Amino acid sequence: MPLFAILTLFPDAIEPYVRSSILGLAQSKGLLEVLLVDFRDFARDRHRTVDDRPFGGGPGMVLRPEPLVDCIEWLEERHGRFRRLALCPGGSPLRQPLVNELAGEQRVALLCGRYEGFDARIREILKIEEVSVGDFVVAGGELPALLVLEAAARLIPGVLGDERSAQEDSFAQTEGGMELLDCPHYTRPRVYRGLPVPEVLLSGDHRAIAAWRRQQALERTKTIRPDILPDGTTIPDNPATNSGAAPGPAPDSPSKHAP
Ligand SMILES: C[S@@+](CC[C@H](N)C(=O)[O-])C[C@H]1O[C@@H](n2cnc3c(N)ncnc32)[C@H](O)[C@@H]1O
Repeated sequence: MPLFAILTLFPDAIEPYVRSSILGLAQSKGLLEVLLVDFRDFARDRHRTVDDRPFGGGPGMVLRPEPLVDCIEWLEERHGRFRRLALCPGGSPLRQPLVNELAGEQRVALLCGRYEGFDARIREILKIEEVSVGDFVVAGGELPALLVLEAAARLIPGVLGDERSAQEDSFAQTEGGMELLDCPHYTRPRVYRGLPVPEVLLSGDHRAIAAWRRQQALERTKTIRPDILPDGTTIPDNPATNSGAAPGPAPDSPSKHAP
């Protein structure tokens, strides 16, 4: 069973989230194990100190390397080698391909920083990958670690009720090597505050629906995230308004949302 260890100074803050909803269910089904490890337990003095003032001066405190290194070594003695990730605003941006990889790992350690972050030497000593969840700074690595954990856990086979959901999500639609945002979704009522559901979705025509969804996904991606589209990508005309011709190949299987 895949094991994710979160090394944190605040295990109590994240425990309820880790034990509920999809993560809790995955653990109760035996598909995933999540260990929360308080690396303060690896502090070497009687005050359980894990941080200290920065050499060279300046504000804030820096996480000392010894508790984290000892904690990882302790974990690996018990469980074997972990893929080691530290949550850092200056790390590589978290993207779906890394999430896909993590979902296939047997052991992942997620190191949560606090204060000014980690002593830089842990990078070399632990051969750690630094990962950022966005170009902004939060107070600690706990929320970023939960993002990484949940993104990976939902891709572990059996965790989602219907695995096609993940295959059709934003960034997973790699037809022709292309990542797209998801298309818009609708449910009842058919008309809400004067806004009708697009007619094509009520047509029962699976090919037309698939074509409409793909075209919507392309348009949304071009408008909101043009940076993820290959240069020169063209958007076909809206098939719902121009005789229903399907842009590009229709998928082999019916969509998860087909009526
Ligand atoms: C206040 S931040 C440290 C910021 C650091 N001095 C910097 O500017 O890069 C404390 C901790 O929060 C976590 N953190 C904050 N923002 C993050 C982000 N965007 N991605 C991943 N981790 C983040 C990291 O674990 C970091 O060590």
